[in-house]
Amino acid sequence: MGRYAYVNGQYVDHMKASVHIEDRGYQLADGVYEVVGVRDGKLIDETLHIDRLDRSLKELRIGWPVARTTLGFIIRELMRRNHLRDGLVYMQVTRGVARRDHGFPTTPVKPAIVLTTKNTKHLGADPGAGVAVKSMRDIRWERCDIKTVALLPNVLAKQAARESGAYEAWLIDEQGCITEGASTNAWIVTPEGELVTRQTDNGILAGITRHTLKSLAHSMQLKFVERPFSLAEAKKAKEAFITSATSFVTPVVKIDGEAVGDGKVGPTARRLREEYVRFSDQGEAVT
Ligand code: PDD
Repeated sequence: MGRYAYVNGQYVDHMKASVHIEDRGYQLADGVYEVVGVRDGKLIDETLHIDRLDRSLKELRIGWPVARTTLGFIIRELMRRNHLRDGLVYMQVTRGVARRDHGFPTTPVKPAIVLTTKNTKHLGADPGAGVAVKSMRDIRWERCDIKTVALLPNVLAKQAARESGAYEAWLIDEQGCITEGASTNAWIVTPEGELVTRQTDNGILAGITRHTLKSLAHSMQLKFVERPFSLAEAKKAKEAFITSATSFVTPVVKIDGEAVGDGKVGPTARRLREEYVRFSDQGEAVT
């Protein structure tokens, strides 16, 4: 067999893996997910990702499909079977399979779990000249803190960004402030050298990379603040960058076609990326 997937208790051929047509994730987006980065066979911030999965499940009142320790075992077994050295582990839990009805099933249903892995280029590789972002209205719901599979606004935003030649969308709230990217958190460095990212609340996903970078910034003695920042402020910033499990720290050199700072990758983003790479090289390799 080539690549494996884990579906509700079984390791199956990735090409043939399937879920029931009445899985509530498929019909109603009634489910949550996590993405954990893998670099040189090491899982990055696994505990924090699983903690966030636990939080998302609790917010939606979905039970754990397997014990937490079992999930750790499944992740490792799938990585070994798929010889995953660089890439990501995707895990998804839905409320389960039930006759279609918007309300929760009234009889007990076992939550459904799916895990896949994906090979990518070496995570944290030099981001080259940086990327461009395109701003657009944030049309998502008011619980963006839950990592649900209901990602249609994010999908449309990412596609619009790509069609305009940008790598990521930056989503703008009603106050004209940037909430986050379609699948990343947004950061800037002000002309005064202050590192800024939006505070976490229901308006954004509390990124794990964001969380770890905060402590790295603290140990690097950078001036760091969590506050809203507007699109206008971002366009006048010295530097900008995005963070996520898969993009690490990726410098943003253009917003809506306008250069950020001198239009080159800035020193703060570069240093933070290097620190984050060092951080992810700690720990024990699974594969
Ligand atoms: N996306 N904001 C959103 C909306 C996200 O979807 C993500 C992650 C992040 C960054 O979170 P973290 O640092 O924990 O990866 C912020 C993942 C990678 C995805 O959907 O593929």
